[in-house]
Amino acid sequence: AAAEKGGHDYFMLKEIQEQPQGVADTLIGHFAHGKIVLDEQRLHDQELREVDKVFVVACGSSYHAGLLAKYAIEHWTRLPVEVELASEFRYRDPVLDRSTLVVAISQSGETADTLEAVRHAKEQKARVLAICNTNGAQIPRESDAVLYTRTGPEIGVASTKAFLAQITANFLVGLALAQARGTKYPDEVAREFAELESMPKRVAQVLESADRVREIARQFAHVPTVLFLGRHVGYPVALEGALKLKELAYMHAEGFAAGELKHGPIALIEDGLPVFVVMPSPKGRAVLHSKLLSNIREIQARGARTIVIAEEGDDTVRPFADHLIEIPSAPTLYQPLLSTVPLQIFAAEVAQARGYDVDKPRNLAKSVTVE
Ligand code: AGP
Repeated sequence: AAAEKGGHDYFMLKEIQEQPQGVADTLIGHFAHGKIVLDEQRLHDQELREVDKVFVVACGSSYHAGLLAKYAIEHWTRLPVEVELASEFRYRDPVLDRSTLVVAISQSGETADTLEAVRHAKEQKARVLAICNTNGAQIPRESDAVLYTRTGPEIGVASTKAFLAQITANFLVGLALAQARGTKYPDEVAREFAELESMPKRVAQVLESADRVREIARQFAHVPTVLFLGRHVGYPVALEGALKLKELAYMHAEGFAAGELKHGPIALIEDGLPVFVVMPSPKGRAVLHSKLLSNIREIQARGARTIVIAEEGDDTVRPFADHLIEIPSAPTLYQPLLSTVPLQIFAAEVAQARGYDVDKPRNLAKSVTVE
């Protein structure tokens, strides 16, 4: 059993380490003759050109990956994208037709709510593309096309490597749509793909600083609450960081959009409260960076203990970070592939410090096949 876990105590810890490979493998074969290739047999450029709206449906971590898809797809394609929890989508009356593309994201491919959302979309004649990590599972079988995340079986109940692979697959969908619609020039698409191909190396660099994250985690192992703040793509990352901590460490954790702080959550800030802040790249939009900086200032002034994830060399955050976790530089849209990783390590370490089995958190199943 120890060998199966590659020398780690838990599958989850091994799966965290496998993330650079999972991202790299998910990209393999999807760029040929200067073009993104999504699913050669079943989804043609012509069909992608006809798409006038995108819905992303998923549950849990896969939903967080879906939230990230929205930023990339809207930015690259100018198509409207709605992201919805599969369990909510199917009981509304979503407006879909044959020019709607529904992207169903599921690691297992067996999640009941997501499967029902796929069926509902198909009844409305929408085209359904599954992003799935399990060959031949029910969701890809019932979808019109499938893009597999190729990160190998995920055993740990908490999603880690599948999440990064899903984000990667979402980028491929966004680039394929942009290419088909002509909202990006071929050389721009090629440049984005090359940038994506260089991400695994950076994910590996983040993993090298795992010891530092674990050391921080041990200091916070017994606090009652941890908050997570992020803006733009940092917001879904904050949600994912909070979910990891809930499911593994059974700790109260909440992720907020940093801009919402003043609309309520700031009332929670009190002396000693640990708050993670996911900083955007200082090389990206300056306004995003300065907004987050002033958020950290505000919460620190109210006594929060700030744990800041920031790009290396971003010295502006130092005065406001009680703990600083540095990640390599990356274009804004790709940063979540890096900033999520310390949050996974943090949650796993806190859970272990509390004596919990991180592969099998209480009350949870790997795949929720009943509604
Ligand atoms: C993630 O850590 C969770 N265990 C859970 O939220 C999961 O992402 C969700 O149940 C969806 O599963 P799926 O990707 O297999 O559809």
